[in-house]
Amino acid sequence: MKAEIIVNKNFVIGEIDKRIYGSFIEHMGRAVYGGLYEPTHKTADTNGFRKDVLELVRKLNVPIIRYPGGNFVSGYNWEVGTGDKEKRPKKLELAWKSTETNEVGIDEFQEWAKQAGADIMMAVNLGTRGPQDAQNLLEYCNLNTDTHYANRRKGNGFKEPFGIKTWCLGNEMDGPWQIGHKTAEEYGRIATETAKLMKSTDPDIELVVCGSSNYDMPTFAQWELSVLDHAYDAVDYISLHQYYGNQNDNTSDFLARSVHMDAFIKSVAAICDTVKAKKHAHKTINLSFDEWNVWFHSNGEKFDEWSIAPSILEDVYTFEDALVVGCMLITLQNNCDRVKIACLAQLVNVIAPIMTENGGAAWAQTIFYPFMYASLNGRGTALQTIIKCDSYQSTDHLLTPYIEASVIHNEEKRELTVFAVNRSLAEDIDLSLKLEGFDRAKLEKHIELYSDHLKGINTKENAAVYPKKREIAETITFKKHSWNMLLYKY
Ligand code: AHR
Repeated sequence: MKAEIIVNKNFVIGEIDKRIYGSFIEHMGRAVYGGLYEPTHKTADTNGFRKDVLELVRKLNVPIIRYPGGNFVSGYNWEVGTGDKEKRPKKLELAWKSTETNEVGIDEFQEWAKQAGADIMMAVNLGTRGPQDAQNLLEYCNLNTDTHYANRRKGNGFKEPFGIKTWCLGNEMDGPWQIGHKTAEEYGRIATETAKLMKSTDPDIELVVCGSSNYDMPTFAQWELSVLDHAYDAVDYISLHQYYGNQNDNTSDFLARSVHMDAFIKSVAAICDTVKAKKHAHKTINLSFDEWNVWFHSNGEKFDEWSIAPSILEDVYTFEDALVVGCMLITLQNNCDRVKIACLAQLVNVIAPIMTENGGAAWAQTIFYPFMYASLNGRGTALQTIIKCDSYQSTDHLLTPYIEASVIHNEEKRELTVFAVNRSLAEDIDLSLKLEGFDRAKLEKHIELYSDHLKGINTKENAAVYPKKREIAETITFKKHSWNMLLYKY
């Protein structure tokens, strides 16, 4: 098969906000305890955090991490995770039916995040709590005033404010499973009032209001319309969440999910702009795709209720999952004019690119690699791409081109990076690439993620799926079912 990609230096989609390479750490399963934090581990630092895990996280160059949930946040009392560790209570954690020890809270997490080189995107509890608690937490984190919560932080040993800029107004409040689930009207009101309190406490913050939990929610679209009707003036972003799986074991359909994701993003942008027009507003609401990934391998698993850090949602990712993650990243890049924040959910152990063993190894799952390369090389300006190639229909009628691609221009580094997935399960694709306005561009690197086995996985003993450098040949070929990165310098 043959394909052609054409770009022109002057035709841009937009500047990529580095926060689209964000991730997510929730207090659930072994994400924190046994993942980031394990004081008895041989690599643990003086605060109890695993250095082997930190090293892998650093490789991903994650600029922002959403914390502390997720469903968890809707029942969380942040205060009990601060102050003297010895005195912190163990609590029933209702979202995931576990025991939360509170050994790690915002004090410890912000120190860890600093070492990881990441900002925090902090979520407040709008499930069992409300505006006042959110405002208290903001004061604790960001203010230098001589007032109760700011002084409490200082008393806990943190003289300088944490300076958290991005805040989520709750989590998935449309979901009946959510602790403190609300109707769109109820949520729209409480989110607006919380936003008012928070912004008058710290006008420099940015706020994300909850959109739908996923595209298939029966209230999708109407939820966004109603919530924004209330909250439009008070917030900056609306959230999107979406996970995909290959439950029917149909790889071509699975690879077409990013076409669905693209349509989802465009629908939410259209809803924001509808409300904008209705309100005669000047401000534009942008999108925060703050939970996305492949998630299905662990569905239906059993675990011991009320245990501490149970092994839940520990999807072991296959090579084909990495292709889907690669396609989803390309979709985020190509929508960078509206998607300003995105969080791969999650970061360690729980549906994550990094896996650990309690007391043992830490290793990279298959999905680690497309994420790492996108984060490292996908910064700059996304160019509009004209892609000429054959397409196929997924069984749910999505017209899906065999090539999914993005082209990112980094003017500072004088680099152009092409990210591309060949979705064909049968044929290699020879590429002709027209880089208009980049006459001197020279291909320096072709990195490929390929495996003969679509279900190939990485384990602690065997990293079977990992990227390889290809010889630079006259004709660029994308192997059947492969992820590729071409790096040009000019
Ligand atoms: O990431 C796992 C869970 O998925 C989160 O807690 C929740 O927000 C979503 O439903």
